Amino acid sequence: MLRKSANDIKSLKRKNPIVCLTAYTAPIARAIDEQVDLMLVGDSLGMVLYDYENTLQVTLEQMIKHAKSVVGASNKSCVIVDMPFGTYEESVEKAFMNAARVMKETNCNGVKLEGGQKMYKTIEHLTKSSIPVMGHIGLQPQSVLIDGGYKVRGKVKSEWQKYIDDAIAVEEAGAFSVVLEGMAEPLAAEITSILNIPTIGIGASPNCDGQILVTEDMLGLTNVAPKFVKKYVDLDNTIKKAVSKYAEEVKDRTFPSSDHIYHMRPQIVSNNGKDQ
Ligand code: KIV
Repeated sequence: MLRKSANDIKSLKRKNPIVCLTAYTAPIARAIDEQVDLMLVGDSLGMVLYDYENTLQVTLEQMIKHAKSVVGASNKSCVIVDMPFGTYEESVEKAFMNAARVMKETNCNGVKLEGGQKMYKTIEHLTKSSIPVMGHIGLQPQSVLIDGGYKVRGKVKSEWQKYIDDAIAVEEAGAFSVVLEGMAEPLAAEITSILNIPTIGIGASPNCDGQILVTEDMLGLTNVAPKFVKKYVDLDNTIKKAVSKYAEEVKDRTFPSSDHIYHMRPQIVSNNGKDQ
């Protein structure tokens, strides 16, 4: 089956909800490829894999390395790669150079960048230069130091127009879809009804055209617990139990057992008693 493209994702507006998750590594990409429509190599990898305080330290080289392994380990879902902080804000030319590097070196299906109206020219330049772009508005993790931190957006109606204008700008600039993060539910639903491109919600609304979560959050491998995260399994606990069993078996020498060691080939003994 052919890998889904950014256009395939765009065509799912108002159809079946679009299933998205993050993937940063080959094992996770391999495990989720069959069941998701889109995998995002998100810059949240800085916090999840590298224990950074926020996403601002993530580099283009890190994104490219992780994206290569995700693309290499998957063949069905659309793979989108986050442009990290500092690689696209300065000028449309710099944004193109860096986004083109991501496309060439990883063979992904497109890039994602944060920002609404202020990113209009950048999104327009990239899409006109043949790079599919996913927008990201509402709570923008790369702006948490100046933009009110991780607080939910649009809880009062007087705030709504800015986010609606951001969403319209992203669509008009040519994005194929847009992530709505950390938004009051009715605002996310309203934006979804206005736009003609799919909205992908995280802490937004079940009425979005799709949903995304950080895979390690929903698998119970991280200890952050924002309200919007649903833990579908507690893998941290499962790992602890497995490792404790392993440690016990190493200590009492029941691991490795006969099944997990290499035996000698049966030896044929010749007439004069020598091995052959
Ligand atoms: O970096 C990321 O993982 C993201 C998603 C949470 C949308 O931007």
